[in-house]
Amino acid sequence: MTGQTPLEIRPFGTALGAEIRGVDLSAPQPTAVTEKIHAAWLDNLVLVFRNQSLNDDDLVKFSRHFGDLDMVPGWEPFSPEGHPEVLVVSNVQEDGTAIGVLGDGEASWHTDMAYIPKPPPASLLYSLEVPETGGDTSFMNMYAALNTLPDDLRQAINGKTLNHDSSHDSGGNLRPNHDMFTSLSEAPGARHPIIRTHPETGKSALFLGRRLHTWIVGEDVAQSDALLDRLWEHCTSEDLTYRHHWQKGDLLMWDNRVTMHRREHFDAGARRVMHRTQLKGNQGVEAAA
Ligand code: SIN
Repeated sequence: MTGQTPLEIRPFGTALGAEIRGVDLSAPQPTAVTEKIHAAWLDNLVLVFRNQSLNDDDLVKFSRHFGDLDMVPGWEPFSPEGHPEVLVVSNVQEDGTAIGVLGDGEASWHTDMAYIPKPPPASLLYSLEVPETGGDTSFMNMYAALNTLPDDLRQAINGKTLNHDSSHDSGGNLRPNHDMFTSLSEAPGARHPIIRTHPETGKSALFLGRRLHTWIVGEDVAQSDALLDRLWEHCTSEDLTYRHHWQKGDLLMWDNRVTMHRREHFDAGARRVMHRTQLKGNQGVEAAA
C-alpha cells in the first residue's frame, strides 16, 4: 500500500535531512502515509515539508500520529488559546508582552530537554513568519558524530555518563526558581549514558545534550571539560550538519534522540513566529551495548 502514495522522499545529500514532497499535512493522513513518514524520519533524522498551510489543530493532529504530546514546564503562558500542546517560539511582542519564547538571540547546540529522565523523542516546528536573513536552524547527526570519533576519544568516554544541567536554558540563562551551583558536580539534572542506543533503530549515537554546565560523572571537572571540549570540537564540524533556511509554511520534524540543533540569532526588528509541538518521552536513555 505504501508504494501507492504520491509521497516523495528526497534526501538532501548532507549528513542528515530530507524533504518530503506530495503531502498536504492539513488533510487527514492514511496510515500508509504516516508509516512512510515515520520510516523516512528514522532514516533521515530531520524531515522538511515545504509550503504547508496549517492551523494549530492541524499541527496537533499531524504530530499525534507519532506519539502523545508533551508540554514544556514553565512555558505554559506561551501556548495559543485552547492549544496547551503548542508552544510559540517567537521574538514578537504585543502590547509590550512577549508572545513566545527564545527571543531573537542564538540558541546554542542542544537536544531538547536532555536534562529530564525521559527526554522527548521528537519535536516539530512550523513557521508562520520568518525573517529574510538570520534565524536559520542547523541540525547535527549524532550517529555520524559517534561513527567518526577518533578511537582514543571513543575509548575515553566508553561506558561513561553525563550529567545534563537542568538549571539553565539553551540561551545559557538561569531558569526561574533555580540557584547557581558552585561546582559542576553539584548541577541538578538527569544523568544519561554518553553513548546511547536508539530505541527504534538499535544503532548507537553520541548523546551530549548541550555543552554548557555538563559534566562527565565521576571525572575531575577539568578532565571532564577537556574531554567534552574535544567531543564538541569534533561534532561541530560542518560535515555532520544540515542548515535550514526557513520559508513561511515549512514544517520540520526531527529525531531528538540522535540530533542536536542550534538556532542563529536574527535582527531584533524582524518578526519570526513559529509554532512547536513535542512528543512525550516514555522511556529513559539506554546505554549502547
Ligand atoms: C529550538 O531550539 O527548539 C528552536 C529552534 C528555532 O527557533 O529554530
